[in-house]
Amino acid sequence: MFIDLKETILEVIYPGSFDPLTNGHLDIIERAADKFERVIVSVLNNQKKTYLFSLQERIDMLKKSVSHLKNVEIDNFDGLLIDYVNEKKCCMIIRGLRAVSDFEYEMLMAIANKKLNPCVETLFLVSASEYSFLSSSLVKEISGFGGDVSSMVPKYVEKALNKKFREEKNGK
Ligand code: COA
Repeated sequence: MFIDLKETILEVIYPGSFDPLTNGHLDIIERAADKFERVIVSVLNNQKKTYLFSLQERIDMLKKSVSHLKNVEIDNFDGLLIDYVNEKKCCMIIRGLRAVSDFEYEMLMAIANKKLNPCVETLFLVSASEYSFLSSSLVKEISGFGGDVSSMVPKYVEKALNKKFREEKNGK
């Protein structure tokens, strides 16, 4: 089933692992929310992948951090992104591009998704330059060694990281 782009262009899906959400992700969400009527931020739950934060923890982080954006909804999915996009009857995927190094991977995903459903477009937002170095792994590494990530993640995420690494240290 293909969806007519003209009918549903005002809704976009922003998929990702968000393990954890960073200010870079938040910047993309805020800019998308400013341009589209509705943004569905959807958390990937890949059963084969080990995450630092559970699906529920990643969802909670997003909900707390986007509560000021009334047109943003938090959801989750597993399996193929295109099946989820079809199920939602959406026709636009949004992704952030931080640097040229993101381009190849993102382009291949966009082409593959387009092969699976030619009506679905992928739209890229270029990351704000102050966040172009940021990644979830970097944040986890810095926080894991006790570094300050307060300028890199929302407050709620910073607290969650501190709690997670403190629990880990205490062997919980
Ligand atoms: N700011 C900060 N970091 C960003 C960012 C931004 N704007 N954009 C991407 N990143 C970073 C993330 O922090 C993450 O860093 P990490 O590798 O250090 O953890 C990395 O880029 C990628 O994370 P994310 O954007 O969350 O995407 P992902 O690669 O985990 O997932 C999906 C991408 C969900 C779109 C893709 O895996 C997918 O579609 N999966 C479903 C299966 C499927 O359909 N496969 C076929 C696809 S054609």
